[in-house]
Amino acid sequence: TIYFIDGQFTEKDGVKISIDDRGYYFGDGVYEVIKVYNGELYTAEEHMTRLFQSASKIKLAIPHTERQLIEIAEELVKKNEIDTGHVYMQVTRGATQRLHHFPETNVSPVVTAYAILNPRPLTNLKDGVATKTVDDIRWLRCDIKSLNLLGNVMAKQEAHEAECAEAIFVRDGIVMEGSSSNMFGVKGGVVYTHPATNLILNGITRRVVMQLCADLGIQVEEKEFTTEEAFEMDEFIMTSTTAEVTPVISIDGKQIGSGAPGPITMKLQEAFAKQLP
Ligand code: PDD
Repeated sequence: TIYFIDGQFTEKDGVKISIDDRGYYFGDGVYEVIKVYNGELYTAEEHMTRLFQSASKIKLAIPHTERQLIEIAEELVKKNEIDTGHVYMQVTRGATQRLHHFPETNVSPVVTAYAILNPRPLTNLKDGVATKTVDDIRWLRCDIKSLNLLGNVMAKQEAHEAECAEAIFVRDGIVMEGSSSNMFGVKGGVVYTHPATNLILNGITRRVVMQLCADLGIQVEEKEFTTEEAFEMDEFIMTSTTAEVTPVISIDGKQIGSGAPGPITMKLQEAFAKQLP
């Protein structure tokens, strides 16, 4: 595998990360995961725009342009001959002695990236997945795609131990999002999802699915709903770059709808698949 670090493409052996990297000490950085279909980056501009927005929200100046980072991602896809997979890219605030406040001006952010094979989750797309609700103990800036993922990691592990594919974050009784995905409920033909506030990540897949709803004439509403309401949905869906449009067939052991992927979920899956490169 060829990696990108600090302006260079290199084999894994050539990757040198400083022990003083602030990503390592503090999770002080931001990241993106971009899917590759047929050797082509999918929604790369949207991901790069969000990367720069996340960076700006933590006052981190990325020493590249969006276009340059897309070109690096494309180069990684080519060098590693990725057909179906993803690019991981992160930017940290750089390496310097461990002091919490930002380093003085001569410390450059560190950009690392790689491309890796990753097939589409066809079994999950067809059969659906089980989920578990977890108390949302994260901070109040979940709109930032930050490297600080301890709350997400703890939640995913809790779901994993319960043999569930995903954890659903619940804050004050309201369904927020998954530990690494966004959540949608379908009731009476209307698709509901949490508004894109500071309490969730505004997923790129979430935005694509909302657009597909509009295209298909399916009513979609950004509206809060409770866990109790989630149990009563006709269909439930989780979305992410890697999960695409995955049916959720149970929450906390309670079957959703018929316990199989529903008609609106399948329509959205089909429309999603159609617009891929
Ligand atoms: N996770 N919410 C959270 C907390 C996420 O971490 C993600 C993505 C999403 C979905 O966003 P998108 O549709 O843009 O992928 C929502 C990535 C895939 C990850 O951390 O692996």
